[in-house]
Amino acid sequence: MLNILLFGPPGSGKGTQSKRLIQHYNLNHLSTGDILRKEIAEQTPLGRIAQHYIDKGELVPDEVVISMIEELFEDKAIKGFVFDGFPRTVPQAKALDNMLLGRNKTICIMVVLEVDKEELIKRLLNRASIEGRKDDELHIIENRIKVYQNQTAPVLDYYLKQGKAFKVNGMQTEDEVFKDVCYNIDNFSKCL
Ligand code: AP5
Ligand code: MG
Repeated sequence: MLNILLFGPPGSGKGTQSKRLIQHYNLNHLSTGDILRKEIAEQTPLGRIAQHYIDKGELVPDEVVISMIEELFEDKAIKGFVFDGFPRTVPQAKALDNMLLGRNKTICIMVVLEVDKEELIKRLLNRASIEGRKDDELHIIENRIKVYQNQTAPVLDYYLKQGKAFKVNGMQTEDEVFKDVCYNIDNFSKCL
């Protein structure tokens, strides 16, 4: 099983690169942001909880996100996942490791997309005019970046200590980023 963790700040290209990776390696895409937005659109009880946080650019509480993920692991036919936007806190990373360990699986590699703050803001404001995502508004974007630095960045140290984290220059074209991401997976994954 190939389990790839795609990591980086809001607007770094996680969703864009995930789409290519799932095709290239024949994997399932697991984006907690996409799942939560679907719950909001369907106005489920979970969606109502999530909306309160997403609208402010804050993280949805760990226990909510972790129990949501646990339910998705049951399909045994799955070849592996591209994790996009999860884990976002150290408790989420520990919960994910335990979930995988219980199934004799592991995170094979974390690829980190590095992009400057100025470029992140430019991309997300541009996306707002194309896709109309509600949280792509300047003051919310700025809070999302702050939340990333304060609460999510420690997840990088967690995987660096496991020798699994590799950084890629996310400021290049989409094709160039993809090439670098694949290079890291093909050469440094702990599972292949
Ligand atoms: P989530 O949906 O995960 O959003 P995010 O992390 O803020 O990241 P984005 O989806 O905005 O950016 P991306 O990195 O996917 O970039 P993209 O490829 O789209 O989370 C949203 C919210 O949900 C959170 O704030 C939180 O409230 C909640 N949430 C989600 N997961 C959670 C969790 N685990 N725990 C708690 N709460 C959680 O690219 C952005 C734009 O740039 C696009 O327009 C794209 O076309 C363009 N672009 C991409 N690559 C390039 C390139 N190389 N050059 C130029 N443009 C590019
Ligand atoms: Mg995304």
